[in-house]
Parts: sequence; C-alpha cells; structure tokens
Amino acid sequence: MPDEKASTSVMQIRAGGDGPEPKPWSPSLPLSRRSLIQHTNTTNTLHTNHVRTVLNRLFAAAAHDDENPQWLPPDIPWETATAQERADAAESTYMPISRQGGELLYILARARRPKTIVEFGTSYGISTIYLAAAVADNGTGHVVSTELNTAKAAAARANLVEASLADRVTILPGDAMTTLNDLPGPIDLVLLDGWKDLCLALLRSLEPRLAIGALVVADDIILPSLSGYLEYVRDPANGYVSVAFPVEDGMEISCWTSHGPADAEGAL
Ligand SMILES: C[S@@+](CC[C@H](N)C(=O)[O-])C[C@H]1O[C@@H](n2cnc3c(N)ncnc32)[C@H](O)[C@@H]1O
Repeated sequence: MPDEKASTSVMQIRAGGDGPEPKPWSPSLPLSRRSLIQHTNTTNTLHTNHVRTVLNRLFAAAAHDDENPQWLPPDIPWETATAQERADAAESTYMPISRQGGELLYILARARRPKTIVEFGTSYGISTIYLAAAVADNGTGHVVSTELNTAKAAAARANLVEASLADRVTILPGDAMTTLNDLPGPIDLVLLDGWKDLCLALLRSLEPRLAIGALVVADDIILPSLSGYLEYVRDPANGYVSVAFPVEDGMEISCWTSHGPADAEGAL
C-alpha cells in the first residue's frame, strides 16, 4: 500500500504547480528522493574534539605574536631582506588567518569540492587545518602547502598529525616560487598567504594550471604590499571575477574564468 502523503509530496514536486506550495524536502519523501541529500553525517571535522583542541592551542599561541619580535640583523631592513631572511626572522610568529577566515576557507572548499588545493605560506598550519578538514569532509582532494622556514614546515606537519589530518596534506619545505613548479594542474583552489609582495608573481606562475572556475583567496588585503595583486585580479581583462570579503583584515576571493573563448575551449 503506497504511503499517500509521500506520493502526494512527490507529485507536487514533479508537477511544480497544482495544490499548495510544495515543500523542498519532506521526511515523508521516499528514500529514493531523500538520497539526493546527505543527512546521515551531522558532524564535521572542524567540530571534532581533536581538531578543535589543536586549533585552540595554535590560536592561543598566535595571540602572543606581538611578544615575538621578528629579528633581522640591523643592517638588513625588512623591505630589502630576501624572502628567506624574512621567513627565518619570523620563525616564532604565527601570523595566521582569523577563525572566520578559516571557516570561510572551509566553506569555499566544501562548496567547490577541489581535487587540488595549493597553499602559499603554511606557517604553523592553522589555515592548512581548515583546508584539510574540508577535504576530509568532502571525501576527496588534497592540499599541497609550501613553507620557506623549515622549522615551521616541520611543526605544521606535527600539528596536522595531531589533528589527524596529515594524510590530506603534503607540505613542501622551500620557496613556493620553485617548490610548486612541478605540481600538475588542474588546481581548483589557491590560498595566497605568504609574503604579500610575492603573491602576484606566484599567482601568475600558477595560472596556466588553474582549472576554469578555480577560486583564489588572498588574505590581509588591507596591506599596501597587496595593492598590485588586487589591481591585477580586479581587472576583468586578466580573467578573474573578484570581490573583497570582510573577514578580519579582508580576504580577496577571485574566480578564474579564463582569458576568453580560446581558453574556455580547452577548459579543464
Ligand atoms: C602569514 S604567514 C602564513 C599563515 C598561515 N597561512 C596560517 O594561517 O597559519 C606567512 C608564511 O609564509 C611563509 N612564506 C613567505 N614567503 C614564502 C615563500 N616564498 N615560499 C614559501 N613560504 C613562504 C613565511 O615563512 C610565513 O610562515
């Protein structure tokens, strides 16, 4: 004997017209309809105890960043120091994304379901944990993150192990301008959070490997050193649709749409 309520709901949805406004989902729908939506797993990795514990500890340590001076020899001003010199001077500072920024990254990665995520600037792995949690919950994908300071790269790896997310991430120690050279595309999501004056050059080096529709997120857009980058991604001629998102110091979210029809034909 068919369930009368269930068959009415299905009919209403299929007909899309007669009778009262159909509900988008009803517990009385047959299982075949319900299977379109995943209801079984109501937890997510971000809210598990072990991930929360690691993130809380890392954010608490990062709150002391101001007490850890970034030491450079007096004859080397920050502006003219090499990326390596700055990375080593900043060995004790976390400089992480905000919690909201992390949640935004988690949301973007859940929605985009990236196969490959690239992160520029691992530090102690806070943003990496958010990205890896999304990959874990998607059940697909991998994060490739790169960090110039070797001690930080090792610490980030340990933090990911503690968060039970190490198998979702490869950390490449070294300069992102070379460590990512051999990474094959398509790249579906990029977080740019290394030294800001390198973000544009790094993005340009990744562009040939970006999937059409790839998301590129840059953190701390209030910093003047990102102005050239912002000018570039906000110019439609360069192939992006880009918007500033107001979390903490601002994140720029840019969608790679290709340079035009020629690129779109070979869309990945
Ligand atoms: C703002 S912190 C990253 C914070 C991290 N995303 C988080 O949320 O915890 C920037 C990091 O980028 C690293 N970095 C800077 N330039 C780099 C480069 N060329 N290649 C790899 N890492 C780099 C620095 O050593 C530093 O640890």
